[in-house]
Amino acid sequence: MNIIECTGISVFFGGLPALRKVNLGVEKGEIRAIIGPNGAGKTTLFNVINGVVKPSEGKILFEGRNITGKPPHVICRMGISRTLQIPRVFKDLTVVDNVMAGALFSGRLKGDMLEKYVNDVLEMVGIADKATVKGGQLNIQERKKVELARALASKPCLLLVDEYMSGLNPMEIEDAIDLFKRIRKEYNLTIIWVEHVISAVSSLADQVTVLNQGEKIAEGKPEEIVVDDKVVEAYLGERVVKHT
Ligand SMILES: Nc1ncnc2c1ncn2[C@@H]1O[C@H](COP(=O)(O)OP(=O)(O)OP(=O)(O)O)[C@@H](O)[C@H]1O
Ligand SMILES: [Mg+2]
Repeated sequence: MNIIECTGISVFFGGLPALRKVNLGVEKGEIRAIIGPNGAGKTTLFNVINGVVKPSEGKILFEGRNITGKPPHVICRMGISRTLQIPRVFKDLTVVDNVMAGALFSGRLKGDMLEKYVNDVLEMVGIADKATVKGGQLNIQERKKVELARALASKPCLLLVDEYMSGLNPMEIEDAIDLFKRIRKEYNLTIIWVEHVISAVSSLADQVTVLNQGEKIAEGKPEEIVVDDKVVEAYLGERVVKHT
């Protein structure tokens, strides 16, 4: 059984479709990348899965239970957490308190367990040395780490990561790839991960789903996706042109 099964998901904003009849099934333990051009509907798909946006049609099963239309705090408590494309860190709270807020929101950990878990997570993502620094003093990469730590601190089974790699240099990308491999193993996670850095997708994803203008246009192993004509035309070709 897939850990998550989205069937026929459509979302309309003011009559315009952001997602059109999208199906997505992800196996437990998988790292699934979602790629596609700007405005393809990737973040909207995350918003639907974690309950921020109600789909106009379609159904979402998480571990076999119907979560369609449930509010975000309920979905978080059930074991799905996410990072935001633009990290939102409380400026006046320390790093450790920012991450603790994630743990408290989900309510999946209690008492003495909580503090130890939060400290483990800070070590894991590599931000433990900034534990007592205020959120407002962090640079963008540090804020991304806090965002990831906060999502992990809610002890999810399914983690949704919205663009972690953009803005990182090649060495930092290698580190991030290694980090995601470790967190999958250590925390027994399934990860769905929206990303524009295709080299990272190729080395980390088990399967890739490609969205374009709200529709799924391809799905398969990374090595199949990068040579798929439809994907090259809609996305990868354009990126090559943009970057040369
Ligand atoms: N809250 C909203 N209200 C109205 N339109 C929205 C809203 N959220 C998203 N959209 C529109 O839905 C479409 C899909 O947006 P979405 O943010 O999901 O794309 P994306 O694939 O995440 O793009 P990017 O790679 O730029 O992050 C876009 O046309 C966007 O303008
Ligand atoms: Mg997005």
